[in-house]
Amino acid sequence: MLDKIVVHGGRRLQGTVHASGSKNAVLPILAATLLTEEPCEIRNVPDLSDVHLMLDILDGLGMRTSFASGTVRTEVADESISTAPYDLVHQMRASICVLGPLLAKRKRAQVAHPGGCVIGTRPIDLHVKGLKALAAELQTVHGYLEGTTVGLTGAHIFLGGPFGSTVTGTANVLMAATLARGTTVIEQAACEPEVVDLADFLTAMGAQIEGAGTPRITVHGVERLGGATHEVIPDRIEAETFMIASAITCGDVRIESCRPDQMVAVAEVLRECGASVEALSAQSVRVRGSRYIKPVDVTTFAYPGYPTDAQAQIMALMSVADGISVITDKVYPDRYMHVSEYNRMGAQIRKNGPTAVVQGVEFLSGAPVKATDLRASAGLILAGLAAQGETEMHQVQHLDRGYDRIEQKLIQLGAAIERVRYAPRRRKSDRRAA
Ligand code: EPU
Repeated sequence: MLDKIVVHGGRRLQGTVHASGSKNAVLPILAATLLTEEPCEIRNVPDLSDVHLMLDILDGLGMRTSFASGTVRTEVADESISTAPYDLVHQMRASICVLGPLLAKRKRAQVAHPGGCVIGTRPIDLHVKGLKALAAELQTVHGYLEGTTVGLTGAHIFLGGPFGSTVTGTANVLMAATLARGTTVIEQAACEPEVVDLADFLTAMGAQIEGAGTPRITVHGVERLGGATHEVIPDRIEAETFMIASAITCGDVRIESCRPDQMVAVAEVLRECGASVEALSAQSVRVRGSRYIKPVDVTTFAYPGYPTDAQAQIMALMSVADGISVITDKVYPDRYMHVSEYNRMGAQIRKNGPTAVVQGVEFLSGAPVKATDLRASAGLILAGLAAQGETEMHQVQHLDRGYDRIEQKLIQLGAAIERVRYAPRRRKSDRRAA
């Protein structure tokens, strides 16, 4: 049986919704628990398939983990294992985050090379460069990154690449540097709030870190790290998805348990479109959509720029704006698999290299569509909310990777959306074989 999401469009969203904990913060934080023998407790953990997968990887690496009521508890049972196998790693690129902690704590690692994915080639050369600079030996053997070290040593590392900084690359090097001998300086470090959250967790474990959230992070290595308790920051991309959902349905939505100060770029773009965005407190934002949606040009950049993870969602909004918008993804220039799905719904979008030209249409019309990746799936739901008629979204597993109970949250806001289990239609050739 497969799941599909059915959205009946045309309802205005109204009310209050709470953001869950951040997927992209919690995944490296879970990997960081490998750095200590002591128990850790992580709170505000979203219930996502990616989180369950990371816990499976940790269990496979000799950890004992539990996850209940938003809290993950971890402790180490066996430190002799250092292999993260392909069948798990290829399902989620963030599993590469175990590489740095394994090298730092267990002095060896065999982590399957995660490969590319639908949003681009996604190399890991900067992870490798950073860890090698810390004196790890790393090579690719039979599809696995095999690493060893006699002990990591601090270094001065430039971590910028052709597309700017790297979020999980910074996380990997930062985690490894906490147990390295001496001082490490990471230049052009990613400034994302998720990196700061990781640094806060590592600091609670006893790491000595300065400058997290700036392009230069300094880490003074320590002998050992202890257990810690940590509360994960809110998921800014989830909150931004609800902000755009409010704008696209001409709604009035209040998002609680979020951080408006981390969502400034999206707020600014929504205001340019004509929506009203008001920070009600340090944890709460209200977005009121306008009937008339102005086109805007949006370019994605590393934080604090407009996030690539909210590119598909803003494209849904622009597809019903009054005029032409130009969207450019500077982080993932190929992250446009959703364009043809929006066009199935009547959008008029042309992709040209790293840019999409969106000619707004008066209305979208519901259609069967396919989620091609996590954020595309969120964008398609937003398009479905605004469309006339019914949108059926297939390949829901992408959505479940990164949105905690999104249908329930949208229903709470007045959306008509449901998850349907269905048996895929058999082809004639299958029937003959049966
Ligand atoms: N890059 C390199 N070499 C590297 C690493 C990255 O050239 O070694 C390039 C990438 O190809 C890309 C750019 O640098 O063009 C930025 O990639 P980054 O390494 O920052 O991405 P990531 O760490 O693999 C995280 C998020 C992504 C998010 C990006 C960009 C996690 C678990 N994932 O990925 O989230 O899109 O940063 O902000 O934190 C998502 O949540 O849907 C998602 C894909």
